[in-house]
Amino acid sequence: MRLAKYLADSGISSRRQAEKLIAQGKVKVNGQTIYELAFTLNPGDRVEYEGKIVESADRVYLLLNKPRGYICTLFDPQGRPRVIDLLNGINTRVFPVGRLDFDTEGLLLLSNDGEFSNLMTHPRYLIPKKYEAWVQGLLNPDTIRKLEKGVALEDGITAPSRAKLLSSEKGQSLLELEIHEGKKRQIKRMCLAVGHRVISLKRTALAFLTLEGVARGQFRFLTSAEVEGLIMLARQSGK
Ligand code: URA
Repeated sequence: MRLAKYLADSGISSRRQAEKLIAQGKVKVNGQTIYELAFTLNPGDRVEYEGKIVESADRVYLLLNKPRGYICTLFDPQGRPRVIDLLNGINTRVFPVGRLDFDTEGLLLLSNDGEFSNLMTHPRYLIPKKYEAWVQGLLNPDTIRKLEKGVALEDGITAPSRAKLLSSEKGQSLLELEIHEGKKRQIKRMCLAVGHRVISLKRTALAFLTLEGVARGQFRFLTSAEVEGLIMLARQSGK
């Protein structure tokens, strides 16, 4: 999207006036003053007018099937691939709703709606997230029960979760875990706390959303019914 249109859509000014603001050097993109009237924005670009960030007027809600090897932060000092680099054709500045580790794959929501992001990630709202984890070693029923009851991590005991052994082969087990908290690296730390290192991790579901129909590295827009459903779920669960 052109910078002038973005400014106009965001309510800063008319489109013609926006071009004047650009020509006067009042608009920055990613910290750099832009004078080019036809400047085109890329996904993730940060637009500033007179020192203030200009948010996009349109609310955008995306479901991405994140591949391993992508970082969720918008800026990475090491220059690693970012999830927002996968959003071809999205000209609005969106950010990940919660985080998946660099080496975790699966369902990731992205949006430019801060209120929605808060509802999906704040521990006060109970949005269930389902993961499949290949772990080192064979899991016994006792360990599964421990994971379900809650395990002690350095930042507190985890809330009750659901755990299920899906399969095991060659000294490794495939575990399904459903949690509704979002502690940092929670699944890996929970598994390690009961003696099983996570080898690979995939988020397969968030509330009623799954990866169905979305190939790895691809994304789709959420429908308004899905967005409303998620918001309702969070509000109903709020303590
Ligand atoms: N738990 C983890 O350990 N890593 C993730 O990326 C998500 C949940």
